[in-house]
Amino acid sequence: MNWRMKAHLLAVLSRLPAGRKAYHRLQRVAGTNRLDLPGEMGRALEVVQLIRRSRQPLETATCVEIGTGWRPFVPFILSLCGAQRVITLDINPWLSERYARETHAALEPVLDEIAAEAGQPLEDVQRRWAAGCDAPNLDSLLDAMHVEYRYPGDARATGLADDSVDLVVSSNVLEHIPRDVLASIQQESLRILRPGGCAVHRFNPGDHFAVVDSSITTANFVQFSTRDWHWYGGSGLAYHNRLRASQYKQLFRDAGFDLPLFQVRVDEQALHAIQQGQLPVHKQFAGFSPDDLAVDYVWVIGQKPVASPAAMHGVRTDGVHPAACGASSDQPEPVR
Ligand SMILES: C[S@@+](CC[C@H](N)C(=O)[O-])C[C@H]1O[C@@H](n2cnc3c(N)ncnc32)[C@H](O)[C@@H]1O
Repeated sequence: MNWRMKAHLLAVLSRLPAGRKAYHRLQRVAGTNRLDLPGEMGRALEVVQLIRRSRQPLETATCVEIGTGWRPFVPFILSLCGAQRVITLDINPWLSERYARETHAALEPVLDEIAAEAGQPLEDVQRRWAAGCDAPNLDSLLDAMHVEYRYPGDARATGLADDSVDLVVSSNVLEHIPRDVLASIQQESLRILRPGGCAVHRFNPGDHFAVVDSSITTANFVQFSTRDWHWYGGSGLAYHNRLRASQYKQLFRDAGFDLPLFQVRVDEQALHAIQQGQLPVHKQFAGFSPDDLAVDYVWVIGQKPVASPAAMHGVRTDGVHPAACGASSDQPEPVR
């Protein structure tokens, strides 16, 4: 599909009163919102792997997830891995009983994979999953899974106490949030995390239209001014902030996080298009290196500093050289 067509369709739907619902229905009809178990599992297990690398014990943890979305793979999997309490927040009401049940059922055949990834006995994971089997409605399913769904729930103002959570996580969310809102979210995350607790995020700062149109790369959007991008993906349903990896890094640092891990993946095709001049770079992106412009994945562990510097050495970097914590073009170790 031509990416401009999709962008225009989304721009129109975004501006209609029932446009969001209509878009969702269209996705259902076209099958693009169909459950993709390997993809969903892969993304959620990356979050688990990052948590394990952060050395935060997931069993007994209180976790906050930013951006529940439609299917609660991340909160359910955190719960299956033993998290005591998972609070998942969303400003949009995408989660439904149907999606929650579908997600729960989809996990049954992959419990062994989850147990292996989490380093947990399979019987424990099976027992936690079974608790949700006979739930008569959404609330009881979420209860059984130790998941608290908060809608409307804004990650800028969680209402949670200072120093009260062990982990703040997100998957495929940060790129959809404007910069000033992200700054407030990082400050709020730092406030609610206990000292030494971690923020764990994985996200895709590349142009998402490249998924539907193979004639463009994940850096396609760097050719547009803010004004032109507004009508493609700078507003509405397709919103993408176009922030580069180096800017995210700065946002975490400005909020006061230490960054024991900041890994990026560079899309070589996008890098080639920029370096060969096939993709013109708008002057507002002129200050970024080609590598930074071509980053299409970021994995972050941000740690809330603890009072004693000695205690801050608790995070394992698993062979990631400290230099790789920079917004470099280092290829990530396989996070999964
Ligand atoms: C692309 S979806 C990703 C959902 C889910 N994490 C996934 O991977 O399927 C981004 C989600 O973040 C939510 N979101 C955006 N801003 C938010 C905020 N300030 N607080 C909480 N959720 C937010 C959106 O409503 C949306 O559901």
